Amino acid sequence: MLRVGLIGTGNMGADHARTLSGAVSGAAVEVVTDLDADRAAEVAAGLGVRTAAGAQQLIDDERVDAVLIASHDDSHAEYVAACLRAGKPVLCEKPLAPTSAACRDLVRAERAAVGDGVPLVSLGFMRRFDPGYVELRSALAEGLVGRPLRVQCTSRGVSSYPGSTTESAVTNSAVHEFDVLPWLLGSPVTEVSWQRPARAAAGSDTFADPQLILLRTADDVLSSVDLFLNAGYGYDVRCEVLGETGSVGLVQPHRLVVDARRARSVGYPADWRPRFADAYRLELQAWVDAVRAGRAAPLATAADALTASTVADAVIASARDGGAWHPVASMSLPEYSTGPSERSP
Ligand SMILES: NC(=O)c1ccc[n+]([C@@H]2O[C@H](COP(=O)([O-])OP(=O)(O)OC[C@H]3O[C@@H](n4cnc5c(N)ncnc54)[C@H](O)[C@@H]3O)[C@@H](O)[C@H]2O)c1
Repeated sequence: MLRVGLIGTGNMGADHARTLSGAVSGAAVEVVTDLDADRAAEVAAGLGVRTAAGAQQLIDDERVDAVLIASHDDSHAEYVAACLRAGKPVLCEKPLAPTSAACRDLVRAERAAVGDGVPLVSLGFMRRFDPGYVELRSALAEGLVGRPLRVQCTSRGVSSYPGSTTESAVTNSAVHEFDVLPWLLGSPVTEVSWQRPARAAAGSDTFADPQLILLRTADDVLSSVDLFLNAGYGYDVRCEVLGETGSVGLVQPHRLVVDARRARSVGYPADWRPRFADAYRLELQAWVDAVRAGRAAPLATAADALTASTVADAVIASARDGGAWHPVASMSLPEYSTGPSERSP
């Protein structure tokens, strides 16, 4: 049984804890911690497990075999570095770090810790495990719609995190697309452009909402990401690939269709948890199985997180530059793969 220590017991951490305890085999939550001690105590009580006084204490705990990080974005890098020092496998929610420089430091720290051995760091880019995205990737690889030409991604939420900025929306939300698009197409992002439509009331001078992000990959496919975090109506993620001979896209995994008042309707979830519940479960199971077997986990790697972060840097540079096209910088780490991970499902 893999004994997991959980750092961060907010929405995502509590959800992971429930999934690990109830829907994943071979693992159990051993101990949890959160800056908000009451929140940690509530989740611990629900699971019947211990709390730790802090993240370092949890990482150093001899009864913790592996660590799951679901605390605030800004805390990830510090805790991943601590896991590397302790030699413990870690699944870190995205993003690995808020800047690509910090991601690069962690890629190097992992290499220093394990050399050519089994990597310790896995990233929570769960769309790689979503059955819809997995099928979409297979359809493209099989040439179902011919050569891809355009990808249209939509990413909308009910309301943004408090204190959101244009940059945090890019590094926290759009980063999912920066990871999944090269993974779907098998081609890295080479240049980007950021555009700002008319601003919604929830936006501000420092938070453009919605945003439109254009990404060109090395295969010349042009992808667009329509990002709107305060869309209000529901959590809505779409992806359609237009190919030379057809189009292939995701459908919403609706649970309920209502026929009433002479109309048919389907609902939207309030956030990402129901939409990606299968993906989180499959991702956690894959991580647990790999860690228990002592082999590389088939999740996104630290190098993949660095790749996504480098794209985010270019998008932010474009946003500061009135939407001009910006090249995506080379990561200058030739020892690491810059393309989509070959270890992904
Ligand atoms: N993969 C996904 O689909 C997905 C979806 C949502 C969120 N996330 C990521 O998961 C993480 C958590 O998001 P959330 O929605 O649960 O946020 P949240 O605000 O609900 O929870 C974050 C928790 O972390 C705690 N915390 C903050 N700083 C901490 C620190 N330094 N040490 C320990 N605990 C700390 C907070 O007290 C809070 O309980 C974020 O990094 C977010 O980007 C990923």
